[in-house]
Amino acid sequence: MGKQFNFVGLRFDHFHQFRLPMSTATKDNASATDPYFQSLFADRIGGADYGKGTEIYKFEKIKRAKRKALADHPDRKLLDFGIGENDAMADESVRKVMGDEVNKVENRGYADNGVAEYKAAAARFMQRNFGVKLDPATQINHCIGSKPAYAMLPACFINPGDITMMTVPGYPVAGTHTRYYGGEVFKLPLLAENGFLPDLDSIPDDVYRRTKLMVLNYPNSPTGTTCSPEFFEKVVALAKEKEFVVVQDAAHIMLTFDGKPRSFLETPGAMDVGVEVHSMSKGYDMIGWRMGFVCGHERIVSAFSDVKDNSDSGQFIATQKAAAAALDDDSIPQRINAKYRRRMEKLVATLKECGFECEMPGGTYFLYTKSPSGTKSGETFAAGEDATRHLIEQFGIVTVPWDDAGSYLRFSVTYVADTEAEEDALMAETKQRLGDAGLVWA
Ligand SMILES: Cc1ncc(COP(=O)(O)O)c(C=O)c1O
Repeated sequence: MGKQFNFVGLRFDHFHQFRLPMSTATKDNASATDPYFQSLFADRIGGADYGKGTEIYKFEKIKRAKRKALADHPDRKLLDFGIGENDAMADESVRKVMGDEVNKVENRGYADNGVAEYKAAAARFMQRNFGVKLDPATQINHCIGSKPAYAMLPACFINPGDITMMTVPGYPVAGTHTRYYGGEVFKLPLLAENGFLPDLDSIPDDVYRRTKLMVLNYPNSPTGTTCSPEFFEKVVALAKEKEFVVVQDAAHIMLTFDGKPRSFLETPGAMDVGVEVHSMSKGYDMIGWRMGFVCGHERIVSAFSDVKDNSDSGQFIATQKAAAAALDDDSIPQRINAKYRRRMEKLVATLKECGFECEMPGGTYFLYTKSPSGTKSGETFAAGEDATRHLIEQFGIVTVPWDDAGSYLRFSVTYVADTEAEEDALMAETKQRLGDAGLVWA
């Protein structure tokens, strides 16, 4: 009998980490109701046990708790801080370019590795915002959103037994694909006592020896931390000394609150050791448009574009041209930054009044704060997940639990509110309900 794996199916929700199986399943453990190909599923997705699991993922639990809360209290509005997506449409000017470009015959075909207009706009964006000079022809390649870039970069480097270092909690895609290629993930926990930076000095030398990729993400999701130039300098020095490649995830870079946004590629020597992956999703309200770019060392960008060329045929050219127009207009990310900064300031003030230990994050639209351990009335929460369920079901407040490195709740300020008055009303209601909840921290 093969090992039991708990797969409900392999739906990837943005913050899910697949539990990766090590199935020894064989054709023998197929049941009478299984399709004939049940035993043919690859071990990497659960083997013959694929689709048979009963474990309920974090986001499905949240959905169920929301349904229960609405059924039990149909008149109570949910205060939803669980959504991890921008609440607004892309800027009107960008939608206008899209509308024009969509009707042009020259935009109809395969885009392959991308059009020159987008690469040139990306190069201008990097130069203007970070003083980073890139050759658009050789050091920049678009991607259909940044997520697939994390699926493809391990294909450029990982052979069986190689290591990718990943920060935890974090965005898991590069780790999942590292395992698909037979590699291993070495987790770098992000802990409050280290300022949510990985402790690079604690990594054993034999791990460094097998490491090919180190994936970093600043501003960091979900912790909201930014890092200093000195941290990036240390990473560059280590990468050269230990010989690994750095992939810096800049998805939230334009949502930096504690100063000017900083690119890894500004660091002296960074261009020799890696790439930075940018996304149009968060900073430009373009989540569904699926645009991003990989930039940095020419040889790594070239390897990425080779793998990409064998995986997709590029984003729709009209979308690339609209995204190029967005990249050329710095007022767009500035406006989005100001909105989420304002909302974050209000949230931090509100949560502090309710006993949460929190400060304004350095960036991202997420506030990552210690989960309460219970309530004054005697409830106890063993983990963030219990606190989340309690807050949804009893008080109609939705958050996302992170229990990977300590117990934390993530509040997102991407809730729907059309005016500042609506934001204020939402905060007042949040304060009222959290007050009623009587939360305590151990
Ligand atoms: C840290 C981080 N990296 C990358 C992504 C992927 O973004 P996209 O594929 O929309 O560019 C996300 C999205 O949630 C994210 O939070």
